[in-house]
Amino acid sequence: MLEHAFDIPATHEAPSDPCLMVIFGASGDLTKRLLVPSLFSLYCDGLLPEAFAILGMAMDDFDEAGFRDKISADVRAYMRRDDAFDEAAWRRFVANIHYLQGNFDDADAFKRLQKQLQALDERQGTGGNILFYLATPPSVFGMISTGLHGVGLQDGKGWRRIIVEKPFGSDLASAQALNREVLSFWREEQIYRIDHYLGKEPVQNLLAFRFGNGMFEPLWNRTHIDHIQISSTEQVGVEWRGNYYDKSGVVRDMLQNHLFQMMAYLCMEPPTTFAPEAIRNEKYKLLSAVRIMSPDEVLLNAVRGQYGEGINADGTPAKGYRQELHVDPHSNTETYAAVKLRIDNWRWHGVPVFLRSGKGLKTRSTEIVVQFRRAPEFTFRGTPAAEQLEANQLIFRIQPHQGIELRFLAKRPGPSMHMRKVNMHFAYGEAFEAQPGTGYETMLYDCMRGDASLFSRSDLVETSWRIVQPILDAWGTQPAADFPNYPFGTWGPKSAFELLKPGHRRWLGRSQLQAIERVPMFQGFGPAMLNALAMMLKPRVFNAGDEIARYGSLADELFIIDGGQVEIVDRQGRVKTELGAGKVFGELSLLVTKRRHATVRAVSYCCIYTLDKGDFAKMLKDRPEFAERVMQVARERYHTIVSADALLDGGEEPLPAATDHRQSNMEEL
Ligand code: BG6
Repeated sequence: MLEHAFDIPATHEAPSDPCLMVIFGASGDLTKRLLVPSLFSLYCDGLLPEAFAILGMAMDDFDEAGFRDKISADVRAYMRRDDAFDEAAWRRFVANIHYLQGNFDDADAFKRLQKQLQALDERQGTGGNILFYLATPPSVFGMISTGLHGVGLQDGKGWRRIIVEKPFGSDLASAQALNREVLSFWREEQIYRIDHYLGKEPVQNLLAFRFGNGMFEPLWNRTHIDHIQISSTEQVGVEWRGNYYDKSGVVRDMLQNHLFQMMAYLCMEPPTTFAPEAIRNEKYKLLSAVRIMSPDEVLLNAVRGQYGEGINADGTPAKGYRQELHVDPHSNTETYAAVKLRIDNWRWHGVPVFLRSGKGLKTRSTEIVVQFRRAPEFTFRGTPAAEQLEANQLIFRIQPHQGIELRFLAKRPGPSMHMRKVNMHFAYGEAFEAQPGTGYETMLYDCMRGDASLFSRSDLVETSWRIVQPILDAWGTQPAADFPNYPFGTWGPKSAFELLKPGHRRWLGRSQLQAIERVPMFQGFGPAMLNALAMMLKPRVFNAGDEIARYGSLADELFIIDGGQVEIVDRQGRVKTELGAGKVFGELSLLVTKRRHATVRAVSYCCIYTLDKGDFAKMLKDRPEFAERVMQVARERYHTIVSADALLDGGEEPLPAATDHRQSNMEEL
């Protein structure tokens, strides 16, 4: 028995059904990183039944004591809870974990398994309920199911359920074959296909947010929404998983499952009840409405990337993908993808959904941005507000910070009609007290209660493959000529930024305060100003050889280099100097209208924020006290007298003659 010795369980939920849990692949990575920590966390929260035990089965040669020692060491490394590790609780918990060594193709091993389960069931009083967890590659699903069938464990007294891990196939045909295979052993209602993103609280909250609040649903359609962005970026590379990943790539690993699940929750119709099948039916309908791309459309709407050598977050050198362990040195596998999808239904017709995900990127973040249509400006014609109207955004932050943000415009206090972007913010950590989890806690608990809402169904899996199949086909047959096309630790390939350009859209991310703080002209400004400026930064990516600014062209942008190297070239084509990460150039172009007196070219891949003179002028109009300060900087530092009118108009001052003989100066470029 799993002895509970808590005064009060941490939640108000009842423990799940009594059951035994069998983990196939118990000595592997998933078990130690996610399953055991999640199960122990459920135990600490009083959500596991007293009649409960775990039996791990794997090929590795452990005895029971040895296996318990191993997981006792692992669990401390992978627990994610904030509270101190409860040694006494762990001792009680681990006493209910057992181990069976055996090969999955060995019928005798399954006989031993059956005997051990029978004994445990009698001892624990679990009523014959058994949950089988396949923490194994899909290639052995059939083998394990055959073994279980051989000893009649797939059905019996009590319930029998099986959790299978992704990948559910590697394309449409293999997913169909896998479904056929699994369904030849199990009934659909016994199969729980896990996608741990659905265990994340902010993902589940998408349903609560949409259908539990009356005010947003009427706006949730093509009349009011301009487009949707779903991004999941990771800082890590493939780590130790090259073997799996090189056959997979990000489309199979993230888009086809995690990102599609979030899209389905965000875009599906309201289900008529909260019953698992009602929710899954709506998800299925939504995914079935996603337009399947033709090969030509793939070229226009899907872009891929692969990371090369770069820099880790801690400043140490990072390997390129092709140098990673177990990765083909000529690999064509994508570690980054961005796609534009269309949903052909009445609600979403004409609203593009942009998805992107990648490894080896600058930041780790999963978030969804719903961008609304901009309000018509006619009401405000003749007032400063007409130029200040911007689209509202609703941002769901999934990780690492969990919350929701609504960005909208408000009138700035004062006599005239000025608008300013403000935001309302809900943070999980401030509103609720909950332990951080892996996402698996909810999934395991739900499965033990027989609630399949958060799990995928065979039709959902196949429909998701149908959507990505043309992309896989196109990329599988055409090697990417430009791989690797982004350095580790950067923003991803240039093409991902160009994907959004046609509709004058751009990827929306967090406010880039750190970048704006590097601009000498803004030093000493308060957080409100800096934040406002940071919101105006536009991320742009350039490849080696790209021209960033041209000699003689009208200078109307400031540049902040986030990564990469640029060269400054004079009119004669001589390289005067090079600038790297952290440097800023073109500051003066925000202050006076002038022509560039040098050309700036990317020497390597570069990620650069730009601040537009027009946006800057808008911001000054709204904050006259800031304009004063900027004029002072111009006088003191650049010996330039700038009139308030010129500054506020954003570039109507007459052009000075182009000066080509001057020494290039970074601020003045
Ligand atoms: C897994 C993928 O499903 O999700 C991994 O196989 C990825 O490659 C992981 O790193 C991301 O999950 P999370 O919860 O860290 O965003």
